Amino acid sequence: MSKRTSLPNDAVSILKLAARSMFDLFANAAQGMLLVDRTGRVVWINDAYKRFLPALGFESEQDFLGKPVEEVVQNTLMHKVLETGKPILIDLLTNKAGTFVVSRIPLRDDHGEVIGALGMVLFDHPETTLQPLIGKFARLQRDLDDARRELAAQRRPKYTFASFIGSSPATVEVKRQARRAAATESTVLLLGETGTGKELLAHAIHAASTRGDKPFIGINLAAVPDTLIEAEFFGVAPGAFTGAERKQREGKFKLADGGTLFLDEVGDMPLALQAKLLRALQEQEIEALGSNEVVKIDVRVIAATSRDLQALVDAGSFRADLFYRLNVLPIRVPGLRERLADLDALTESLLEQIATRSGMPQRELTPAALQLLATHDWRGNVRELRNALEQVAMLTDKIRLDAEDFTNILHAAPRAHVPDAVQAKTQPSSPLPQRIAELERESIRSALAATGGNKVSAAKLLGISRATLYEKLATMRTAPPEIS
Ligand SMILES: Nc1ncnc2c1ncn2[C@@H]1O[C@H](COP(=O)(O)OP(=O)(O)OP(=O)(O)O)[C@@H](O)[C@H]1O
Ligand SMILES: [Mg+2]
Repeated sequence: MSKRTSLPNDAVSILKLAARSMFDLFANAAQGMLLVDRTGRVVWINDAYKRFLPALGFESEQDFLGKPVEEVVQNTLMHKVLETGKPILIDLLTNKAGTFVVSRIPLRDDHGEVIGALGMVLFDHPETTLQPLIGKFARLQRDLDDARRELAAQRRPKYTFASFIGSSPATVEVKRQARRAAATESTVLLLGETGTGKELLAHAIHAASTRGDKPFIGINLAAVPDTLIEAEFFGVAPGAFTGAERKQREGKFKLADGGTLFLDEVGDMPLALQAKLLRALQEQEIEALGSNEVVKIDVRVIAATSRDLQALVDAGSFRADLFYRLNVLPIRVPGLRERLADLDALTESLLEQIATRSGMPQRELTPAALQLLATHDWRGNVRELRNALEQVAMLTDKIRLDAEDFTNILHAAPRAHVPDAVQAKTQPSSPLPQRIAELERESIRSALAATGGNKVSAAKLLGISRATLYEKLATMRTAPPEIS
């Protein structure tokens, strides 16, 4: 048995031992070492380092030694280490010879003066050795880029008039009216059934207006719980509430300042808030919750609804004065059945979108399929059409979609009642909560299908509030495709 040295128990010896072990570790891991003097000239390289010389552009060690390090190793930071006396323990260095994980350590004399620096190449193939780390970094970077792009895209209008497909007389007329509206600053009210393209038109009007390069901010009044609408509209002053909502939050009006505010499903606004909205629209000024400071704003409003606003006014659930304030430039967006001449162009464009988005090959329709689609009662309008095309594209690999591909899904348009399929699917043996959840999911799906994706009507059909429906959809993560 060899005699063992015992562990030191004083700080200086411990540090010395640790430093030596650490250095040995690095030196063993190193794929190459390089030493520079205090002026930054290369004075020594080890044997392993020599294999990098050709890639750095040197034939012999003699040509390399004695040169200032930044002249012979591109992007090196050895001179920084000499200047600051601080090590750079781990760094990525990329140059002519490749990408390396490197470590740079200042060397000091007995008085603590920096007399040179040691550079070590730890890994010469970081892409393999450090794959997990670099992969993770690359993924995070990509996610960040995506998120930034998405945010920028959200703030930019997504659609122009060219995106509103069709050349039937009804379509030409609605586009003419919308173009005229874009040239003014007036409030626009888009009226029409669900899925007719009201949101698309709102984007297009904004994009074509003088505010086109300013923000387009949308708020869906059917999706925001009543209690939160005011804060969403006007924002929250710092410290307005104790607890969760301490921080200041900008409201949609403020975010839309200089641009356009899109009030979607405006018919669903709680009566209590209608007066506040009216005031904001009339005065062009707002007051954040919990603040008594009035702020001037400059927003152009485009409102949309699939409900009969006049009927709501008559029934007393929509303020007449707000209705008149919104109804300055009403534009009725025609249903699909009034513009069947557009069906060909629409399906073409929708199939192209579906192909681009899914990465599947582009499909086409046979004349028989097109004819069948022309006879269907499109209560969900273009959205229902898109959903039908998407569904068929998922169900078959065929490039040419025929009438028979559509018969099943169009005739099986679910009604509001619970389909038999659900009862069959939920086994009597499965636990009750699971069966209830499944039943709920199925009911929501069929209600949405029956209303062509209109959440307000679907909620009514289901006898639940729209806020509840949105909550449930969020947990289901199967919210029907929104405008995109
Ligand atoms: N003329 C059109 N050309 C191309 N796509 C259209 C057209 N009209 C509607 N769409 C598409 O149909 C879908 C529904 O449109 P949008 O969301 O604008 O309807 P909406 O009238 O706002 O419906 P809802 O009242 O249910 O909110 C979107 O995917 C949209 O891109
Ligand atoms: Mg809409």
